[in-house]
Amino acid sequence: MSRPVLTVGPDEPLAGAAAKMVDRKVGSVVVVDQGAPVGILTERDLLRWAATGTTDGGLVTDWMTADPHTVGSHVEVVEAWRTLSEKGYRHIPVVDGGELVGIVTMRDLVRIAQIQSMAHPSQVEVPKGLDGVVVAETAVGHVRGLEGFYHYRQYNAIELCEKRTLEDVWHLLFEGELPTPEQRRAFVDELLPLRAIPDDVRPLLPDLARAGAHPGPLDGLRSATSAVAQALDLRPSMDLDRTLLRADAMRICAVVPTLIMALHRLRQGQQPVEPHPELGYSANYLYMRTGEVPDPSHARAIEKYQISTIDHGFNASTFTARVVTSTGADLGSAVVAAIGALSGPLHGGAPSRALDMLDAIGTPDRTEAWVRQAVASGARIMGFGHRVYKTDDPRSVMLRGVAEELGGDKYAFARQVEATVVDVLAELKPGRNLYANVEFYAGVVMDRCGLPGTLFTPTFASSRVIGWCANALEQAADNRIIRPSARYVGPPPPQPVPV
Ligand SMILES: CC(C)(COP(=O)(O)OP(=O)(O)OC[C@H]1O[C@@H](n2cnc3c(N)ncnc32)[C@H](O)[C@@H]1OP(=O)(O)O)[C@@H](O)C(=O)NCCC(=O)NCCS
Repeated sequence: MSRPVLTVGPDEPLAGAAAKMVDRKVGSVVVVDQGAPVGILTERDLLRWAATGTTDGGLVTDWMTADPHTVGSHVEVVEAWRTLSEKGYRHIPVVDGGELVGIVTMRDLVRIAQIQSMAHPSQVEVPKGLDGVVVAETAVGHVRGLEGFYHYRQYNAIELCEKRTLEDVWHLLFEGELPTPEQRRAFVDELLPLRAIPDDVRPLLPDLARAGAHPGPLDGLRSATSAVAQALDLRPSMDLDRTLLRADAMRICAVVPTLIMALHRLRQGQQPVEPHPELGYSANYLYMRTGEVPDPSHARAIEKYQISTIDHGFNASTFTARVVTSTGADLGSAVVAAIGALSGPLHGGAPSRALDMLDAIGTPDRTEAWVRQAVASGARIMGFGHRVYKTDDPRSVMLRGVAEELGGDKYAFARQVEATVVDVLAELKPGRNLYANVEFYAGVVMDRCGLPGTLFTPTFASSRVIGWCANALEQAADNRIIRPSARYVGPPPPQPVPV
């Protein structure tokens, strides 16, 4: 605080008080009566007086703000700053036992900020990884981790997997309701032509497919989606109404599966297969890999997987899509950024690693020793553990059933490995509640349906893009730029700059 404080009595002439302020070069004067502050006179009050056009202003008491807000001399400086910023004041008298002892002004606080950082009044400490922090409101869906339950809008997501088609669930996420038969026909008619890759992008795909000796699972898709967004001239979401932004979202969601399979075939030295106009979303997805209409049980198994991965609360890639949308950027940018977030092994890049683990273990008799050794060496067992689920992941339970229906050697082995990993983790990582997550059986199911490991993460992305876009539409409809803060922990500034 500053002291001594410039003071005047309430019955002094206003002109005299103004002269003192000019003389001392201060923006306020505290009005005291028997040592206690009874008012404050600021430049704002003098402006009000000047606006009257008179030279005789009367007395200080006529113009001052009576009973000014004060702070005690022992309060934290942050408290004083909070009062200044919340109330819009520029000066606050400091009192001790009712006596005026100083004044805190914006000038003092700017000076202090050079030495000691002051937290913004609304700044709160949050747990690492934003664990459990609510950062938005959403009506798209939600995960209840302790109950092992998640939902899309008001429906149990697993029940949707069992009872509806992917197109129905897509309609639910975009339009807020499951479609009637007529709405379903209209929706499918709308999206069929949108599956085609834009002409400007087709010639780019062979190079994108071949680039890099060891491309990551989503590298080609990330670049190709960016090219589509550019070729379609997608405009900033900030400049679009919901109808136009929804049209962009439909286009991107419809073309992503086609891009995935075109890139896959081109990398294998094969020509892309055009989408099949008669096939549903997942059957067409498998068809575009081989050019043959797939076994219906395989198409349905993949459809259940793809529905189960459309959305899942504020996971890292969905949050990324919302952050990018919150800047007003175009939908393509939001999806490209989300693809990048999904590509990490801690998020979507794990299903092929989970299957690789089965291959690495080799035989059931080796499982326990392998898992113990891996955990002891500090490695993560891929396909296990989840930020939100502290019980069975409902997607893993559903996919375990799908894998069982499909049968095959890997299923029985996967069951044995799952049981062993859960037991070993319970023993070596007690209290962490680690169970199989979506990725563990996803690999087994996709493998059984003929998809190679290189397509596991892209298949995750093929339907998650619908969730990203539903979230982007919601974000754009009620937007404020997402711009949190960080705590600075480097050397204290300002250090002298070396010349
Ligand atoms: C999904 C995942 C990233 C969640 O991470 P998180 O919520 O930040 O959990 P943490 O990293 O804080 O882990 C908590 C504890 O459990 C342990 N743990 C978590 N998952 C584990 C796993 N799969 N294998 C071994 N230990 C694991 C951690 O080592 C940590 O132990 P510590 O307390 O001794 O340090 C994490 O479980 C993981 O890495 N799983 C493997 C990758 C995977 O399957 N990803 C797909 C997710 S859908």
